[in-house]
Amino acid sequence: MVDINELTLEEKAALTSGADAWHLNGVESKGIPGYMITDGPHGLRKMRQADGVNGLYDTVPSTCFPPAAGFANSWNTELVREVGVAMGEECVQENVAVILGPGVNIKRNPLGGRCFEYWSEDPVLAGHLPAALIEGVQSQGVGTSLKHFAANNQETDRMRVSARITERALREIYLAAFEYIVKNAKPWTMMCSYNQINGTFSSENHWLLTDVLRDEWGYDGIVMSDWGAVHDRVASLDAGLNLEMPPSNTDDDVVIAVREGRLDERQLDRMADGMLRLIEKTRPAMERDYTFDVAAHHALARRAAQESIVLLKNEGAVLPLAAGEKIAVVGEFARTPRYQGGGSSHINPTKLSSFLDALDERGADYAFAPGFTLDDAAQDGALTGEAVAVAQNADKVVMFLGLPDIAESEGYDRENIDIPAKQVEVLHAVSVVNPNVVVVLSNGAVVSVSDWQADAKGLLEAWLLGQAGGEATADVLYGDVDATGRLSETIPVSIEDNPSMVNFPGGEGYVDYGEGIFVGYRYYDTRNLEVAYPFGYGLSYTTFEMTDAKAEATGPTGARASVTVTNTGMREGSQVVQLYVAPNHESPAVRPSHELKAFAKVSLKPGESREVTFDLDDRAFAYWSERFEDWHVEPGEYVIEFASSSRDVEAVAAVELEGDGKTLHLTDMSTLKEWSEDPVGARIFNDRAAEFERNGGVFWPTDEVNRMFFYTVPLNSITTFVGPKGRWFKETVLADYAAAVGE
Ligand code: BGC
Repeated sequence: MVDINELTLEEKAALTSGADAWHLNGVESKGIPGYMITDGPHGLRKMRQADGVNGLYDTVPSTCFPPAAGFANSWNTELVREVGVAMGEECVQENVAVILGPGVNIKRNPLGGRCFEYWSEDPVLAGHLPAALIEGVQSQGVGTSLKHFAANNQETDRMRVSARITERALREIYLAAFEYIVKNAKPWTMMCSYNQINGTFSSENHWLLTDVLRDEWGYDGIVMSDWGAVHDRVASLDAGLNLEMPPSNTDDDVVIAVREGRLDERQLDRMADGMLRLIEKTRPAMERDYTFDVAAHHALARRAAQESIVLLKNEGAVLPLAAGEKIAVVGEFARTPRYQGGGSSHINPTKLSSFLDALDERGADYAFAPGFTLDDAAQDGALTGEAVAVAQNADKVVMFLGLPDIAESEGYDRENIDIPAKQVEVLHAVSVVNPNVVVVLSNGAVVSVSDWQADAKGLLEAWLLGQAGGEATADVLYGDVDATGRLSETIPVSIEDNPSMVNFPGGEGYVDYGEGIFVGYRYYDTRNLEVAYPFGYGLSYTTFEMTDAKAEATGPTGARASVTVTNTGMREGSQVVQLYVAPNHESPAVRPSHELKAFAKVSLKPGESREVTFDLDDRAFAYWSERFEDWHVEPGEYVIEFASSSRDVEAVAAVELEGDGKTLHLTDMSTLKEWSEDPVGARIFNDRAAEFERNGGVFWPTDEVNRMFFYTVPLNSITTFVGPKGRWFKETVLADYAAAVGE
C-alpha cells in the first residue's frame, strides 16, 4: 500500500473528496483507483449515467430485497446476513466498492418520511439486524456505509435542523444501534447525517465523529458525508470526516488551510490515509469477475419477504386460505405492487411479481377488481360497484390497501398515518356483502388501523416487500409457510398518542426531543397506554408456549437467562422469543418499565421444544447516567421477561445484581438522603449526627413527615435547619469524607 507520506498535499486533499457523485478519487500517479460507491440500502442502485444525481431511477437491474421497514419484522439475523451476502455479490458483479447502507436511525415518530428505510423504534432490533447485513455484504470484500450518523429522525428541514437531544437519550436510543454495529460488525464506512446535533452539524461534530465514534467505540473505518452535508471542508476534516460526497470543488481550501496552519497536516494525513486503506481493502473484490445468480437471489428475496409479513388478526381462522376456495381480490396494489419507497433507495428490480401474477402461477380460482385508483382522484362509484360484485360471488375477499408512492418518500414527512379515505370506503362496502375479508397492507411506515379493522376478519401487515412480495404474500395467505413476522414498531391507536407529537417536526430550525428516552413502546408500555398492536406482536398459524424461565448472575453486572419454547399447535412454525429487562428496584434515574435486550427466532415442529439461552452483558442492565457521565448498572433486582410482544410476557425470572460499584462523589450539595445511603458517607454522617445529638443538639426530626422533608436538604443548607452547630457538622462531615476517600 502506498504510504501517505509519498503523496503531495494536493493529492491528499483530493482523496478526501469524491471524484464525482458516485466515485472516489484515486491517485493516478500511484496507481490508486477511484472506485464507485453507490446506494443502497435494500439492494444495489447503480445509475447507468454514473456522474450525476439526475436520472435517479435509471439504474442497472438488481435484486430488490424488502426495504428495512419490512425486513425488520423478520427478526431473523441469519436471513438478514444471507441477504447481505447476496447484496455483496451484486456489488462485486457491478464493480461497486461500497454500498450506501444500511440506515439505522430510530423511528422516533411514524410520520418521519424515511421510516420505510429504517428498521425499528428499538435500538437493539435496529442494531442486531443491520449488523448481520453488514457482515454479509463485507464478507464479499465490499464495504457498507452505516448511515445516517446520527439523529436523522425526520425529513422536515433535514439539511439544517438542529436535533436537541439529551446525552442520555442519545446514548440509550439514538446512538445505541450505531454503537452496537460499530463494535460488532465493523462497517468499513459510515455516512454522517445532514442535520445538526445540539447546534453542530454532524459533518463538523468532533464529539460525534472523533470523541465518541473513534476514541470511545474504537472505530477504524472512514466517515463520509451525506450527499451535500459538508458546509466547511476544513471544519469537517478537523472533526474527523474523511470524505466529502459529492465534491464541492474546494480542495484548494484544504491545501491553503494546511499552508496557513489552520488545519494540522497530520489530521489531513489521518483522513486521507483512511481513504487509501479503504481503497486497498476493496481492491481484490473490484478486480474479481463475478456474475450473480439472478434466480437464486429472487428466491432469497421471496424468503426474506415471507418472513417480513406480520399476521395481525385472524378471526375465525379465516386464514390460511384453502386451495379450492374461490377468492375475490380487490385493490390496485394486487396488480400494481407497492414494493419499495422513493428517493435515493429506489431500485430497478431484476423481476417483479404482483400478487395476481402469484395467483396465476398457482392456478388459483379468483376474480379481481381494482377497487380504487392510486392517485388522489375522488372515488369512482363504478370501481366500488365492481369490487362489491366480485366480493359477493366469492368465499373470501383478499383486499389490498395501503399508501400510494407519493405518500412517503425521502425528503418530506407525512402529515398523518391514515390510508386514503376512498380505500376505507371500498373496504366497508365490500365487508357488507362478504364477511370474510382479509386485508393486506402495503405501506412503508405505520398506518392507523383503528377506524376500519372491524371490517376485516384477517389482517396482514405486509409493509414493503421488495420484488418477490407478490409471491411471498400468496405463500403466507395460503399457509405454504407460517406467518413468522413480528412488528418492529408499535401501531398506535392514534398518531396523537405518539410521545414526540408536540415536538415533531419542530420549528425555527430546531427540534426538541422532549420525550427523551421514552420512544415507542418504552413510552406506551410505561404509561400503560392502549395501542392497536404492540411492538413485537404477530400471530402464527400455530401456537407456542414459553416455560421454565431461569436467570442467574454471571458477575456483578451480567446474567445468563434461559427459557423453553414449545410449539403447542398442529403445524410447523416460528416464534420470536423476546427478552425484556425490567428493573425491579428503586432507581435514581427514571427508567422505562422494560426494554428489549435480546431476541431469537426459533423454528419448531408441532410438539417440539427448545431451550433458548441468552448471555446478557452489562449493557442489558445499564442506563446512561448523567451523574456519572457513563453507563451505570445499579445494584438490585432485575426481572427478565420472556415475551411474544412487549405486551405479552409469557414467563419471568428474577436476578439480583451487585451492580458496577460506581458510587457518587459526595459534596456539600449532596442531600442528607444521599449522605445517609452512600456506603462511605453514611458511616461518617451517622457518626457525626450521633455526636451532634450527644452534645445536646437535635439533629433528626422526630416525626416522619419532617424527616422525609429533611432528607431532601443538601448538606450545605443544614445550618438553616439545625442551628449554628450545623456549620461544625457540615465541615467535619466533609473533612472526614475527604480523608476517607483519600483526597
Ligand atoms: C441520502 C443518502 C443517500 C445519498 C446518495 C442522500 O440524499 O440521504 O441516504 O445515500 O443521498 O444518494
